[in-house]
This record gives sequence, C-alpha cells and structure tokens, in this order.
Amino acid sequence: MNKVPLLSAVNLRKTFKVSSQGRSARILTALDAVSLHLSYGETLGIAGESGCGKSTLAKVMAGLLSPDAGSVLYKGTPLSQLEASDKTSFRRKTQMIFQDPFSSLNPRMRVGDSISEPFIIAGMPASNQRAELVRIMAAVGLPEDTAQRFPDEFSGGQRQRIGIARALAASPEILIADEPVSSLDISIQAQIINILMQMKIDFTLSMMIVSHNLLILRHICDRIIIMYLGAIVESGPAAELFNRCRHPYTDALIAAIPGLQGSTASKSELLRDDLPSALSIPAGCRFHPRCRHAVDLCRHEAPQMIEYASGHAAACHMSATLFG
Ligand SMILES: Nc1ncnc2c1ncn2[C@@H]1O[C@H](COP(=O)(O)OP(=O)(O)OP(=O)(O)O)[C@@H](O)[C@H]1O
Ligand code: SF4
Ligand SMILES: [Mg+2]
Repeated sequence: MNKVPLLSAVNLRKTFKVSSQGRSARILTALDAVSLHLSYGETLGIAGESGCGKSTLAKVMAGLLSPDAGSVLYKGTPLSQLEASDKTSFRRKTQMIFQDPFSSLNPRMRVGDSISEPFIIAGMPASNQRAELVRIMAAVGLPEDTAQRFPDEFSGGQRQRIGIARALAASPEILIADEPVSSLDISIQAQIINILMQMKIDFTLSMMIVSHNLLILRHICDRIIIMYLGAIVESGPAAELFNRCRHPYTDALIAAIPGLQGSTASKSELLRDDLPSALSIPAGCRFHPRCRHAVDLCRHEAPQMIEYASGHAAACHMSATLFG
C-alpha cells in the first residue's frame, strides 16, 4: 500500500481581489488553511453550500489555479517543484469534468475529433486511434456513429458523456468532477453517476467529486469533506459521516435532505440566515452566526480539527458535548 497519498493539499489559501464601482479592491478568502488528501483508488466527495469554495478547491487541486499559500502535492512532491516533464504528466493525468461540458468543447469540432485530441497529442500511432476512440465512446455509452456530429446536436446528458470521454482519452489517474450532474435531469443524473463509477473501476481512477447533493456523495464516495466559507469543518468516511456526524453544519445539511429518514426540519429552520460573505469571514468559529449551539467561546476562538474516530475529524468546540 502506498503511504504517500496520490494527491494532497497542505494549508491551501486562495484569495481573490474583488472591486465594485467606486470602492477600493477588497480581499475575498475563498480557501483558508485547507489540507486534505486523495488516496490511490479513493473517491472523495466535497460538499457545502454555494460559495463555500468547492470549485476553487477543485481548480487548485487540478493545478488550474495557483494558491496564494500552501501546496498541492502530487505523489508527495509540491506541484511548484515538479520537473517540467512531471508537470506535463501531472496535467495529463489529472483531468477535470465540469458542470457544463459544452463550455469546454469546441463547438466547431466534431465530437470524435474532440474526444481523440488528447491521445493524438500524447502521440498515439494513427493506426490505433480509431479503435481507441470506439473503445472510449462505448465505455461512456455514446454510439459510434455520433462521432461525426457537433456538440450542439447533443442533449445535456450526452454532452456530459462527451466530457467524460474526452477526460478518459488523456489516460488519467485522477478525475476531478465539479458538479458533474447538477445541470442534468434527475433521470439522467443516475446514468452519468453510474458511468463515472464504472469508469473508476475500468480505468483504475481516483476521484474527487464536488456536489451539493449529499445523497449522491454518500452513495458513491469513500470519504466526504464538508466545507464552510472556505474551510473544512468536517471530514470522514461517508457512511460514518452520515450516521454519526460531528459538526452542527453537517448535521443541518443532512437533516435538511428532503425525504431522508429522520429529517424533520427545513434547511432554513436549521441554519440561521444565509451564508455570510467570504469578504468578511466571522471571527472565532466561522459558523457561529448561524449555529444554534454557539457559546461564548465560539465567538472568539476558532476551533481546530480534532480526530474523533479513525479518519473522522471535525472543527467544533462543542462536538463532544453535542454528538457524544
Ligand atoms: N474568479 C473569482 N473572482 C472573485 N471571486 C471569486 C472567483 N471565483 C470564486 N470567487 C468567490 O470565491 C468564493 C468561493 O467560490 P466557489 O466558486 O469556489 O464556490 P462553490 O462552493 O464552488 O460555489 P457553487 O456551489 O455555487 O459552485 C465565492 O465567494 C466566490 O464568489
Ligand atoms: S464551534 Fe460553536 S459555533 Fe462553531 S459549530 Fe461548534 S458549537 Fe457551533
Ligand atoms: Mg462551484
């Protein structure tokens, strides 16, 4: 077993300068001291409300955005210290799947050419290219004769299949999917999730999946990370996080899932107000203005991540009192 994780992050910080008319630029903190790892063969879920920093994290982990501080490590080496050839290899081996695959496809390129591009660039002999295209299209359930068509001739679900096929054509070892099904009809979502899970087995992938949908993450992930306002507040094995969460924010997200056994309250009853702006993150525990369990300490002191069970950690002063 590999002791060094395939991909990890240490103390990531990412800010954006935002300026509105007539005001001087302000600093928005999208990621704050984020550390995590993705093990070989693992499926890791990232959840949290809109604006919590999930997409920023996904892009930083994929090397598409540089952090202000902290490092992403590929097999133990910071991306910034990789040799040029290893950097190229990392870029090829780490592929992203986006919510809207249409935006990453060239509308004037036939989908067969789009899907083939990564292995052609990687130098695959021309004699093997057609067979590889057919193999990948079959794997994602795209009929071979659709290779001649253009992206705008496909449905949303089919476009996502094309996006996955294009990612697979680079022979990746890591797939980072940012809300891969949230723009699709419910009936299509399960098909795409099943394809991703089958791909993971057939192509021996490790995956990071960002989703608002905790039920999907529970179904497909080994571990789940819960983010709140740019920070990780809880992480743990998927089943355990659901059965015995350790943070009031996770508790509220789970309790508010419609139709889940035992869910009795709406999200608005469990979470006071809306997510505060990332321009002014609350002092102390960043969740305290919305937390029903906040005590004085929470307003002054930021809780550290504490491991309560193997691989299951949470950042809450009251975790032991609230959750045993
Ligand atoms: N390029 C940017 N410039 C300025 N602010 C940004 C930029 N990208 C993200 N942000 C801000 O960073 C914070 C985190 O954004 P991010 O897109 O990572 O959140 P998210 O969890 O993916 O949200 P969603 O679920 O809506 O996709 C938000 O406050 C967002 O407005
Ligand atoms: S530290 Fe306090 S405010 Fe933060 S989640 Fe725990 S109880 Fe709530
Ligand atoms: Mg996002």
